[in-house]
Amino acid sequence: MNEIIEELEKRRENARLGGGQKRIDAQHQRGKLTARERIDLLLDENSFEELDMYVEHRCTDFGMEKNKISGDGVVTGWGTVNGRVIYVFAKDFTVFGGSLSEEHAKKIMKIQDMALRNRAPIIGLFDAGGARIQEGVAALGGYGEVFQRNVLSSGVIPQISVIMGPCAGGDVYSPAMTDFIFMVKDTSYMFVTGPDVVKTVTNEEVTAEELGGASVHTVKSSIADKGYENDVEAMLQMRRLMDFLPANNMSDVPVLPTKDDPDRVETSLDSLIPENPNQPYDMHELITKVVDEGDFFEIQEKFASNIICGFGRVEGQTVGIVANQPMVLAGVLDSDASRKAGRFVRFCDCFNIPLVTFVDVPGFLPGTAQEYGGLIKHGAKLLFAYAEATVPKITVITRKAYGGAYDVMSSKHIRGDMNYAWPTAEIAVMGAKGAVEIIHRKDLDDPEKIAEHTKNYEDRFCSPFVAAERGYIDEVILPRNTRRRVSRALNMLKNKQVENPWKKHDNIPL
Ligand code: HXC
Repeated sequence: MNEIIEELEKRRENARLGGGQKRIDAQHQRGKLTARERIDLLLDENSFEELDMYVEHRCTDFGMEKNKISGDGVVTGWGTVNGRVIYVFAKDFTVFGGSLSEEHAKKIMKIQDMALRNRAPIIGLFDAGGARIQEGVAALGGYGEVFQRNVLSSGVIPQISVIMGPCAGGDVYSPAMTDFIFMVKDTSYMFVTGPDVVKTVTNEEVTAEELGGASVHTVKSSIADKGYENDVEAMLQMRRLMDFLPANNMSDVPVLPTKDDPDRVETSLDSLIPENPNQPYDMHELITKVVDEGDFFEIQEKFASNIICGFGRVEGQTVGIVANQPMVLAGVLDSDASRKAGRFVRFCDCFNIPLVTFVDVPGFLPGTAQEYGGLIKHGAKLLFAYAEATVPKITVITRKAYGGAYDVMSSKHIRGDMNYAWPTAEIAVMGAKGAVEIIHRKDLDDPEKIAEHTKNYEDRFCSPFVAAERGYIDEVILPRNTRRRVSRALNMLKNKQVENPWKKHDNIPL
């Protein structure tokens, strides 16, 4: 018996060495951890149960039959994060550069199937060179099967991708179909075709970082939701994120114990809005003062920063927060902001996460650049996302809510459940200056008359009360009580039941 146990230990030890000590050292020298080291950081201590450790490829071309490594370039299994089950696969760059073979794909598929069947989140850690070149079409087939599973799991279980090294060719499309993509700064990059192919086809000379590093995908392309300094930070932040997310689309959001009083009064919020309506203020201040212990997990903070999206908790329960940011482009809605927030709203709605929306929006951004870029369709994405969402929707208008953007930002008219406004709210078709210039065009040469018209317009329309008179606003609240109001509304809406008409799926303006 002892010999059998020894043999097992030997096999395990051998498999855990992956591509060997030399390649592990090379991985470390590049500032990267190995697949198993990453998993150890991600999961609760000693909770990882590895599967398929002894799987080997079946390729017999290019002398590959003599070159087999246990595990075949991907480490798969399940474990827990703060006691909750998650499934994980991590590409092992020390084994054939983490490239995907037929058997490697089957290991990932098995974990995807288990995650879906058992309705628990799945996290993929990417560090790989794409399709296993020696396997050709078998690898392409493997990718296709992984992609199919990504799609079937979408909206049923949270799927998260973390890019921790190269991620090219076939490897990019699986992350692209997951809910969130995170990257590690300087050591990871993502592109469909690498710098060499780019040079051949377009004659452009770019580095891997310039083509697809975290600095590109978190700022310009919005492919990635956030970049982290190193592997350790990335794994610890994934643990934090998992605490916000439910296990699946039928389960409740997790509730974390909190000592933060839901009735906490924040008098400082009474002076958040500056006297001058054109002066910005930081919407983060409102968000962090409303959520439990100021704990806010923001996504895409460097892309379309005129809108803020992220997770927080109120009374321990996860909420999705969407907020216009007056500090950037005056909080205007443009194509990028609409796409960013639309996708976030849909994620929250998939997973029963109530939405809290803070509104200070001067409208949609005018101009040819926006119109030619498809602002109408992109803006419609956010409108569509809010309008189809059936989760509890609580809206607080702090200042401007002008024009179409008023309707879009979780208004009463698209099934906002509780719509609050601060006394400083201005709910109108447009600001006073623009309105007066149109409806009193004949008086434009008379500054006195214009001043009078502007004052009249401001008195009548630049307030929350015209909307409140019609019931579009449920209550005008004191800024200091915002947390209490949101918390009470969330409790009141706990058993909300709204169903959209049956359909195969909707046709969101993509
Ligand atoms: C087999 C691969 C491999 C691959 C890397 N390796 N990529 N083996 N298939 N795709 C192996 C290398 O031979 C090497 O083995 C080890 O992994 C490390 O690779 P290096 O090149 O030494 O590392 P590095 O310099 O860091 O470069 C990493 C890299 C580069 C940028 C990922 O290896 C690379 O460009 N690889 C090819 C990328 C690619 O074109 N893939 C195919 C994409 S097409 P040893 O034994 O020396 O350690 C595709 C289509 C699918 O994916 C489409 C489906 C929709």
